[in-house]
Amino acid sequence: MPSLPELAHRTLFRTLSLLSPKGQGVILRRYFDWWHRTPDPWKLASDGYEQHKYRSTLEHLPERPYRRIAEVGCAEGVFTHALTTAYPDAEITGMDISERALSRARARVKEDERVRFVRSDILTHRVEPRFDLVFCSETLYYLGRHDRLQHASAQLGGLLEPDGVLVAVHPWPESDRLHGYLDAQGSLKRLDERVYKDSPRPFAITIYGARPS
Ligand SMILES: C[S@@+](CC[C@H](N)C(=O)[O-])C[C@H]1O[C@@H](n2cnc3c(N)ncnc32)[C@H](O)[C@@H]1O
Repeated sequence: MPSLPELAHRTLFRTLSLLSPKGQGVILRRYFDWWHRTPDPWKLASDGYEQHKYRSTLEHLPERPYRRIAEVGCAEGVFTHALTTAYPDAEITGMDISERALSRARARVKEDERVRFVRSDILTHRVEPRFDLVFCSETLYYLGRHDRLQHASAQLGGLLEPDGVLVAVHPWPESDRLHGYLDAQGSLKRLDERVYKDSPRPFAITIYGARPS
């Protein structure tokens, strides 16, 4: 059962998703700019649970020489920073709806020809299938209702080049519902899932491969 604060949180974001996608994007952007008024509001850089989740995510990836990596909902770039170390030869793009989060990410990880941060709303982003590894962690539950999750899932699948890998990480058991939208994408095939039920806040790491079209 979700806790009361979690229920209130999900209801707020479901209500926002009654707006048009553009209107929802405007409010989400303002909300997350406000939320990031203080640095690292979720303590992603210092919390042991978050660090454990990042390490577990990296451990479960299919071993491949990834060349173009995207993190959707990268916030202040804490995991993006881990990616630059884990994949020193890859081109890495962090995407987020909040410009304030991105400016902190740019302070944490210097942009250069291989690392860049882009303001983008996954619901309205013009997707190009150019990444061989895409992460979406702790972000889908902000998107609200059914049709928005369906659309976001199609957009995530659309970021992958043929044979690319998508990794979704969300609290379990809510992940069953959220990742169910990815399962329903004809362009994606579920490859693996690890559920960490003993963690103080259980979570699932679900890995998808792009199906050849
Ligand atoms: C809880 S943080 C997740 C941070 C990171 N993925 C992690 O797991 O450490 C969620 C992020 O999603 C971003 N976000 C929310 N809705 C979004 C959308 N529609 N498109 C892109 N980013 C979005 C927020 O601005 C926020 O920085």
